[in-house]
Amino acid sequence: MEQKTILITGASSGFGEAMARLFAASGYRLILVARRRERLENLQKELKTDVYIQQVDVTNRGAVENFFKELPENFRKIDVLINNAGLAVGLDLAQEASLDDWEAMIETNNKALVYCTRLALDNMKERNAGLIINIGSVAGSAPYPKGNVYGATKAFVRQFSRNLRADLAGTDIKVSVIEPGAAETEFSLVRFRGDAEKAAAVYKNTRALQAGDIAKAALWIIEQPLRVNIDAIEIMPIDQTYAGLVMVRKE
Ligand SMILES: NC(=O)c1ccc[n+]([C@@H]2O[C@H](COP(=O)([O-])OP(=O)(O)OC[C@H]3O[C@@H](n4cnc5c(N)ncnc54)[C@H](OP(=O)(O)O)[C@@H]3O)[C@@H](O)[C@H]2O)c1
Repeated sequence: MEQKTILITGASSGFGEAMARLFAASGYRLILVARRRERLENLQKELKTDVYIQQVDVTNRGAVENFFKELPENFRKIDVLINNAGLAVGLDLAQEASLDDWEAMIETNNKALVYCTRLALDNMKERNAGLIINIGSVAGSAPYPKGNVYGATKAFVRQFSRNLRADLAGTDIKVSVIEPGAAETEFSLVRFRGDAEKAAAVYKNTRALQAGDIAKAALWIIEQPLRVNIDAIEIMPIDQTYAGLVMVRKE
């Protein structure tokens, strides 16, 4: 059987890197994208499968368009797109947060995701085949203080995934969204701008998800028969759950 090709954005760490490892071990070919080229090069050397890497800032629409246009002939057929590149920047109340941080999240979690989706769909439409897995977050449906724009960008990811399903009705192109809770990756290090102590405190004395847990869920989605579309999977660590509603009381 022909080996499938999986394009992963944000493959240089966390979920993306874990997916690259698991998919390579499961016999898939890979296209790996991120800004940190050296990390991608190391992964390419390590993985025992065909891997094409490209340094792309997915927030740069022109760069994403060139990347898709210039894919080598033997990597043009994308069977699975994993829109994983994303980030939270800062953790501040809306009334105190920086517009630059908000913009960075919208650019990466939403604008870049729609660029990659639209361009991958050209090829999928031609072949009437393909699967898009978007990485959302429980923050997209469970509000929390200081989650403001991050949560809103992930609500966009969920609704965009569902609207894609509606548009693709009658085709053999599938769409899924995975919505993880707290997972120990570089996510908090990025959110707290490299403050390792603050990042470590997020996971201290708690059993957070590990990147491999999300990679396994993605592999399960990919390996479903054609008739099955997994619409959404929400995964939280055992030590995380929903909060109650807050009542503010004044004397
Ligand atoms: N960890 C969690 O608790 C959690 C929970 C729910 C959802 N998520 C979501 O899961 C996804 C992966 O996050 P993670 O936890 O694995 O964090 P991570 O370890 O920080 O990985 C994020 C990845 O995204 C890439 N990336 C960020 N901006 C990019 C850009 N402009 N262009 C290209 N690549 C870019 C990073 O690569 P470079 O820096 O090399 O570009 C990195 O490979 C994100 O969408 C995140 O919002 C995470």
